[in-house]
Amino acid sequence: MKRPHVIVETNYDAMSRRVAALIDAAIRVNPNIVLALPTGGTPIGTYAALVDLHRRTGTDWSRVTTFNLDEYLGVAPDHPESYAHFMQQHLFSGVNLPPERRHLPNGLAPDPQAEVACYEAAIEAAGGLDLAVLGVGTNGHLGFNEPGDHLTAGTHIATIAEDTWRRNFPHLAREVRPGQHGQPGRSGTPAERPFRQAYTMGIGTILQARAIILLAGGTSKRAILRAAHDGPVTTRNPASFLQLHRNVTLLLDREAGEEA
Ligand code: GLP
Repeated sequence: MKRPHVIVETNYDAMSRRVAALIDAAIRVNPNIVLALPTGGTPIGTYAALVDLHRRTGTDWSRVTTFNLDEYLGVAPDHPESYAHFMQQHLFSGVNLPPERRHLPNGLAPDPQAEVACYEAAIEAAGGLDLAVLGVGTNGHLGFNEPGDHLTAGTHIATIAEDTWRRNFPHLAREVRPGQHGQPGRSGTPAERPFRQAYTMGIGTILQARAIILLAGGTSKRAILRAAHDGPVTTRNPASFLQLHRNVTLLLDREAGEEA
């Protein structure tokens, strides 16, 4: 069986440059490439390196199509915490990717279930994902496919895990005292808090990509990556499902990759 290929770079900058070089090369080989793209702290350096490559070497993004992995439900695209805003800030403003070729679920869609169907249909209509670039949560989540009793194959609306929410919104989490779960607080019960639901590609949508690159840095990702690479395939660690794909590269910095 073909295992995920692991590349370990010395540090975050080297990892970011290496991932960007792989994406840039993929665009040059296939100018009509369909990409799935992540958000989070990890890919910021990759996007900066891609913008730099575009400026210095003229990589043409005019026929590329992108689909983001996820977006918060109920959040406007111009909200500073939206992934649409993140992408505009870190990548879209710096490359010649036409607006009509950039896709994120619309956080304000009037009919969320219709938006789910529409997003999956748009990926199909584009011919499927050629290359899915992924980050990973410290709990193994991909997109917002959180650990649990089951995973969902297609694009869907997910509830964000408590620890993911606290990690992604430390400024909001500080307002909720420990031990207050389920009790009304300044930010309400977990279910009432903002940013608790998101559109996400499903694990099946991701696994149908022709190639996958997962990037991860830092010691906090080391244990979950090792389990994803060597442990059982389990819904308790969504990243472990990458073992089922034939063309996966884990691109890590030394801190994340030492034991992967
Ligand atoms: C968010 C995103 C994930 C991303 C994760 C990791 O939760 N929904 O797609 O992989 O963050 O974030 P970071 O790179 O900041 O560790």
